[in-house]
Amino acid sequence: MDERNRLAALWLLVCAVLPSCVGISSPKEIDPLVYEEQLLWVSGAQGYVNTYRVPLLTFTPEGSLLAFAEARKSSASDVGAKFIAMRRSTDKGATWSPTSFIVDDGTNPDGLNLGSVVVDEEVGSVILIYSVCFHLYLCQPSSTMMVESLDDGRSWTSPRNLSVQLGVKNFAPGPGFGIQKRLDPAKGRLVVCGHGTLEGDGVFCILSDDHGHNWYNGAALKSIPYNQHKRPQDFNPDECQPVEMTDGSIVINVRNQNNYHCRCRVVVRSVDGGKTLPIDDLFFDYTLVDPVVAAGALQKDGVLYFTNPSNEQHRVNLTLRWSLTNGQSWENKVVQIWPGPSGYSCMTSLDSSFPEDRKYIFVIYEKGHNDYDESVSFTKIHLFGGR
Ligand SMILES: *[C@@H]1O[C@H](CO)[C@@H](O)[C@H](O)[C@H]1NC(C)=O
Ligand SMILES: *[C@@H]1O[C@H](CO)[C@@H](O)[C@H](O)[C@H]1NC(C)=O
Repeated sequence: MDERNRLAALWLLVCAVLPSCVGISSPKEIDPLVYEEQLLWVSGAQGYVNTYRVPLLTFTPEGSLLAFAEARKSSASDVGAKFIAMRRSTDKGATWSPTSFIVDDGTNPDGLNLGSVVVDEEVGSVILIYSVCFHLYLCQPSSTMMVESLDDGRSWTSPRNLSVQLGVKNFAPGPGFGIQKRLDPAKGRLVVCGHGTLEGDGVFCILSDDHGHNWYNGAALKSIPYNQHKRPQDFNPDECQPVEMTDGSIVINVRNQNNYHCRCRVVVRSVDGGKTLPIDDLFFDYTLVDPVVAAGALQKDGVLYFTNPSNEQHRVNLTLRWSLTNGQSWENKVVQIWPGPSGYSCMTSLDSSFPEDRKYIFVIYEKGHNDYDESVSFTKIHLFGGR
């Protein structure tokens, strides 16, 4: 038992005898409150970066928070050269380290794109997977790359090319987090899901059963018509966020690129640890209306959370929803985090064995007044109305 686990065990012991500890976090009492908010990055404000986009957020093995974003050097475009920007918080989001640029793609005309961050709690590593040359713009082939930190995000390895193992198929991980399976089937497996392009779109997952040393291709949910030119309303599953449910299945919440069937989210489930995504288990979640965007999802203590700009047409109205029924239904009450322009979002939370950490989730999202790519905002959400 390390120091953190010992403290957690002590807390549980104290809570067992103190009535004031009991029942602080019943899912029925959830009444989220935006408790703290700060801008981690502002586009165009300084130095070498034109635009910050595609924010990711994760907990770490030591209980820190890491935030990442694409730092697009000379324009707001998805192509072009970029850094990966990172900031780290060791006090649960109250203060953040200065920005460090942990990857630099130089002058690549179709540089890096984020990305999935995945924590391996068994070995205490943080892995970040991203693509380069995803759009095949003045370069080829497309490659899937990985960097890793073994010291809680303080330092990072140089990039490793996973396409040597996976092949050079276009794969854009996330954007969001990947998961390490905490439950069977395939306890311990790393599961990173993303999408393909351009005609060959769909949801694809890559898997590792040895802490990120070796990777192989897992589930594929292909677009229709696959590898052919798409029309509006074709089936085109795209950017996605997997979460592990309390029964060990993986639910993936997916961007519905061509508005097939609805202007809402596609949901698919894997019951074999990310090896398959059967069409039998696919549904359209009509409550989760969506303007075609990357959204956030998180499962904490049996409650499923979801964030997106909740609007059928425009990237505005960043909204938090929660479900007490594993996503079969959503509570009527919602929390509007930001009414204005808002885009991609990602969520995380800290280990619930600490009572204090049961109370919060953290959301990072693209936020602006005129355009959603003006800044990247971090919010700390108190799940029980500040009580
Ligand atoms: C990654 O490896 C693949 C397969 O060997 C290769 O074709 C590709 O050029 C490599 N990409 C980079 C960025 O080194
Ligand atoms: C914001 O989202 C809520 C919840 O989906 C919805 O009721 C409301 O109409 C939305 N407002 C706008 C301006 O999109």
